[in-house]
Amino acid sequence: MSLHILVTGGAGYIGSHVCVALLEGGYQVTVIDNFSNSHPEAVARVNKIADGAINVIETDLADEGSIDFIRKEIGGRPVHGAIHLAGLKAVGESVAKPALYYHTNINSTLNLIEVMRMVGSNTVVFSSSATVYGEGNKNPLTETALNYMPTNPYGRTKLYNENILRDLYIADNDWRIANLRYFNPVGAHPSGLIGEDPQGIPNNLFPYIAQVAVGRREKLSVFGSDYPTRDGSGVRDYIHVQDLASGHVAALQFLHNQSAGCSADINLGTGKGVSVFEAIAAFERVSSRTIPFEVTARRPGDLAEVYADVTLASQLLAWQAQYDIDQMCADHWRWQMQNPAGYTG
Ligand code: UD1
Repeated sequence: MSLHILVTGGAGYIGSHVCVALLEGGYQVTVIDNFSNSHPEAVARVNKIADGAINVIETDLADEGSIDFIRKEIGGRPVHGAIHLAGLKAVGESVAKPALYYHTNINSTLNLIEVMRMVGSNTVVFSSSATVYGEGNKNPLTETALNYMPTNPYGRTKLYNENILRDLYIADNDWRIANLRYFNPVGAHPSGLIGEDPQGIPNNLFPYIAQVAVGRREKLSVFGSDYPTRDGSGVRDYIHVQDLASGHVAALQFLHNQSAGCSADINLGTGKGVSVFEAIAAFERVSSRTIPFEVTARRPGDLAEVYADVTLASQLLAWQAQYDIDQMCADHWRWQMQNPAGYTG
């Protein structure tokens, strides 16, 4: 019998890649999504890539009424775990609308917990972020870092959700919890059928570079070249979304293989830092396009350097990232070329 996994936010950028990995791993998948920042077409393409038949429950998980709706939709089918990715994720918007972020991101988690109780499953893999470390830690960042000081409401919702899930395990040791702390997910499925489809002006480096390369935007702003890094630009630990997806399957297997409940916080990154200038050069290399850029002021809240210690993921999950920055750029570029206006184009 194959295991049945709920994937909240399963139509989104990371969720769609996780769904492919699950289907390819022999799991049955139910996506829970309200399509507020994603597209049903993504699910159709996941099914096409992996020859799957994903069950979709369209509902807003932040809304309490969704609990009963989901239970009814599942209709007694056994559930063996959830991968919880649903949530809002724009840093700037979270500063402008903190209540919206706390409402959406925290209530989604609380409501998912109720759903899990109702369906009798205690396994949750949570989509956390390196943003929970915030300022004041040394690189490479380890899961035992002393400081947890996210610099914005979005980051705090990630940290609070981790705490909620940890507290759940403390109260009831049957829960199996993995808080996966993603570094910077980029790239796309090698088919070019699914990828990141940001609405409006992209906030993050890779989608912005890709839109400049494809001619949708004139030039990239490099936010600061006076950081204490090897070339002055910001350094991040970019991880191929395909690696990230396989990390979720590994985490699920890890939780299922435990003889008792557990709670683990695990970094998912490559362990290697890449600067903004290095990312531009790699993208130019693989796309054979020039990326015009200008150096502008630092972006408030940005750190000079952020990269992961990935020892724990390799120890607990027997997982490590496979793809390098050129592969990330090549796959990101293929997606962008094949879908210049995203899913709606
Ligand atoms: C950002 C979020 C982080 C979130 C992550 C998701 C902030 C402060 N942090 O991380 O909470 O989890 O995205 O992937 O927004 N850069 C430019 N020009 C651009 C865009 C970015 O030079 O147009 C630089 C940034 O200064 C940084 C690097 O590129 O050095 C990466 O930026 P970005 O992709 O936004 O990711 P993070 O800031 O690391």
